[in-house]
Amino acid sequence: MLQLEGIRAGYGDTEVLHGINLVAKERVTTAIIGASGSGKSTLLKVIMGFLHPTAGKLIIDGQDVAQVSEQEFAKHRQKMGLVFQESALFDSLTVAENVGFFPYYREKKPWGKVLPMVREMLEMLDLPGIENKYPSELSGGMRRRVALGRTLIYKPKILLYDEPTTGLDPTMIGHVDEIIREMNEKFQVTSVLVSHDLESVLDVAEHVFLVQDGIAQDVGEPWHLLTSKDAQVARFTKSWREHVEMYRKLMQSKGFDANGTPKGEAQ
Ligand SMILES: Nc1ncnc2c1ncn2[C@@H]1O[C@H](COP(=O)(O)OP(=O)(O)OP(=O)(O)O)[C@@H](O)[C@H]1O
Ligand SMILES: [Mg+2]
Repeated sequence: MLQLEGIRAGYGDTEVLHGINLVAKERVTTAIIGASGSGKSTLLKVIMGFLHPTAGKLIIDGQDVAQVSEQEFAKHRQKMGLVFQESALFDSLTVAENVGFFPYYREKKPWGKVLPMVREMLEMLDLPGIENKYPSELSGGMRRRVALGRTLIYKPKILLYDEPTTGLDPTMIGHVDEIIREMNEKFQVTSVLVSHDLESVLDVAEHVFLVQDGIAQDVGEPWHLLTSKDAQVARFTKSWREHVEMYRKLMQSKGFDANGTPKGEAQ
């Protein structure tokens, strides 16, 4: 379990997080939403130990690691994987070398040991047979999945995703959502997903927090985003609610129900 209690953090004299309380339960996907610049990525940096909080507790597996040494934190970081917004692959390395990058180049594991791990990963990510290709030969979505593979190869217990679907088309978003779900089911990870995509949040998250003014508000289950009467939640999700409403009206005007079934043919 991952728990933040009263976490304060920022850059220089500017405090961005003013006392974050947040719980990401084991084996559950917790989503963090919030306006651009509200501090979502900053929050992930704190969890990864890249940014030290000035106050509060960061509890990982029952231990408060907010103020431990870098050496001590490194042990906890091994349990975590961060999937970034932008996928940065090494253009001069093959797909296999990119996915196996950390075990091969950093840990110096023999390639004979790394390759089966890479193959399993590519298989899981629905990318078989592209081991020897170079990133320039792949589509943007495939590159994204290869980058995911590089993080997931360690099978981390806590997975942090920072807007993994930004800039992808709806099919690719679906694939990434599927991967997030699969990681939870197959490896029983605790996932924290920062996302701007309502559909993804509704699809994969089980619990949602809204970051606003440096504070995290516990929204609860994702559907509360569309129904909550809370003023802050309602304000933030206004455009999403309007989209859903627009869709509903459009379907109605075309004589379909919300599932796309013609009226009167509901099973
Ligand atoms: N390295 C940095 N140095 C100084 N200020 C920073 C740094 N990174 C972020 N900030 C500031 O901290 C605040 C929160 O930024 P952060 O990147 O955490 O927001 P975010 O919620 O992830 O936004 P987005 O949705 O656009 O990714 C912003 O005001 C930003 O300008
Ligand atoms: Mg961000």
